[in-house]
Amino acid sequence: MAKIEKVLVVGAGTMGSGIAQAAATAGYKTTMVDMKQEFVDAGFGKIKTPLEKRITEGKMRREDLDRILANLKGTTDVEAAAREADLVIEAVFEEFKIKEDLFKRIAKVAKPTVVVATNTSSLSVTQLAKSFGAPDRFGGLHFFNPAAVNKLVEVVKGHGTTPETFSALWDFALRLGKVPIETKDSFGFCVNRFFVPFLNEACRLLEEKVADAATIDAATNEVLGTTMGPFALMNFTGIPIGYHAEETLHQSFGAFYKPADVLREMFEKKQLFEIAGKPDPTKFEAVKARLLGVLFGITAQLVDEGVASREATDKGALLGLRWGHGPFALMNQVGTAQALRYARALHDKWGKAFPLSPSLQKAGERNEAWNLRNVVVDVQGHVAVITIDRPEALNALNPKVLTELGEAFTAVANNKEVRAAVLTGSGKAFVAGADIKAMANQTAMESLAMTTLGQRVVRHIELMVKPVIAAVNGFAFGGGCELALACDVILAAETAQFALPEVGLGIHPGFGGTQRLPRLIGPVRAKELIFTGDRITAQQAEKIGLVNKVVKDAELLPEALRIAHKIAEMAPLAIGLAKESVNRGLETDIDSGLALETNSVTLTFATQDQKEGMRAFLEKRKANFTGR
Ligand code: CAA
Repeated sequence: MAKIEKVLVVGAGTMGSGIAQAAATAGYKTTMVDMKQEFVDAGFGKIKTPLEKRITEGKMRREDLDRILANLKGTTDVEAAAREADLVIEAVFEEFKIKEDLFKRIAKVAKPTVVVATNTSSLSVTQLAKSFGAPDRFGGLHFFNPAAVNKLVEVVKGHGTTPETFSALWDFALRLGKVPIETKDSFGFCVNRFFVPFLNEACRLLEEKVADAATIDAATNEVLGTTMGPFALMNFTGIPIGYHAEETLHQSFGAFYKPADVLREMFEKKQLFEIAGKPDPTKFEAVKARLLGVLFGITAQLVDEGVASREATDKGALLGLRWGHGPFALMNQVGTAQALRYARALHDKWGKAFPLSPSLQKAGERNEAWNLRNVVVDVQGHVAVITIDRPEALNALNPKVLTELGEAFTAVANNKEVRAAVLTGSGKAFVAGADIKAMANQTAMESLAMTTLGQRVVRHIELMVKPVIAAVNGFAFGGGCELALACDVILAAETAQFALPEVGLGIHPGFGGTQRLPRLIGPVRAKELIFTGDRITAQQAEKIGLVNKVVKDAELLPEALRIAHKIAEMAPLAIGLAKESVNRGLETDIDSGLALETNSVTLTFATQDQKEGMRAFLEKRKANFTGR
């Protein structure tokens, strides 16, 4: 797959200009194309006006705007721009025929390696891929408004999308600083599938006079931790968007998704909802029961259908919609038995038009919480990749993440197949530290419990027999830097940054930073970092010996895996003993260390691997180590 350097965004409207801005900001040579020059100019205006305002407010430097604009070109010649592009993102009017014609034109002139993505929110990616003619190089990149700022991108696999194309789109989203979630090519993908009928149900509540708009908005804000309820939001984004989206879902998923009469009326009369008034808290429970019923019923259904994972669905709500809770985390809060009752009430009313998810039935009948993981373990042969996956909070370490991290490393330690591990983070951070929200109101005793937990996990990694490589993909701040310090090898992506910013929060490092950092880089350098809280780049970190080496962002994981697989080919017991000799030796005097080494190396002679390793050398063949 060719490297993506030049990006073409077709459509300079709200979404297209936002996507073009995000691409240009991330350093891609970006062209924005539209049918008329005035549309292109308007697209530039949408980018420049808010950024100029940020400069005036002192929130942005002019040279940063200049840098973005230097990466950005506008044109009306789609063919000429498509000839040059490595990635084309289509963000034109949501009509199949218009998109079909566009893809046919692009297919005629584009490079044979071009990757094409549609930003459609309601059409089939697989059908659109047919009009391009090479479905293997076609997929969906569904951005959320405002596309330059909103962190979420749904990466959609059409039927023909190859794994290489999917990962090119995924990596592109990551380079934009977005959090990608994988979704199947199903109408509404993940987020709109539950969000649009959720808005529609709010309209039905209004129509049935269960409550007025102000009450429905207030009840929603209370339960979801939002600042704009369904009606305030629809007024803000425009009624037609919600109406058209619901109509598309209606055609695909049937009667339950039919737009509410009041929504159709507002759309036809081009009116806004009346949202003024004093909310009536006595009606909150009735409102919540219905809205949560829709939310829980549909999200459980879409996961059962394989549209997205539970974790991805929660990220969709947290990042795409800026809700305070994901639907599955919310089900855990109210209890899955209660969640099932809410969904069942709608099923009783609508029958087959609102099917009851089998997984929700199963969990709800036992009142079992969903197991929502923030730490993912992926075993690839003899190597385990452990990913901290809480990008909505830059992978900040709270007790749940720490506990899961400990469990992940215990599983890796106990897995006889695994000989080395790679630790990394999802999104733009490795780990941005211990969770400040979790710590802000802690008492000293609660802090003691969290620090003890954190230190235990970090020490577990350090003392584990199997080597661990930290693949630092972004911010490694506070507890994140301390986590990396416990690993045996530290690789950093070019854009990674390190810091121990704790003193700026009125505390100091607590997951081993005051101990391991001076041992690694010397006390004076460590004190400078700890006392100033300064951020350093990956290159500076390499210079002071904090990391083994810096690699290009795209090569970080491949390089970490290469080293891990190389280690995995060596004698595992010898490596475990060597790790212990180094670690324990550093904690003691030289004579004790040498005694440790003597015992340790002597022990290797009691292993079958020592016999195999030396015999293989003499027989001029590759050793086959078994870890015995
Ligand atoms: N704890 C909790 N939430 C965090 C977090 C943390 N350590 N770091 C980031 N987040 C959250 C943010 O609050 C934000 O959430 P909302 O969207 O809900 O507001 C989200 O992650 C994204 O972060 P930003 O919008 O701030 O992202 P940015 O790119 O603008 O900035 C950053 C990135 C410079 C890393 C900034 O997030 C930051 O400074 N984070 C805090 C870093 C820090 O001080 N770490 C030390 C923690 S203390 C510690 O670790 C103690 C110890 O020794 C164990």
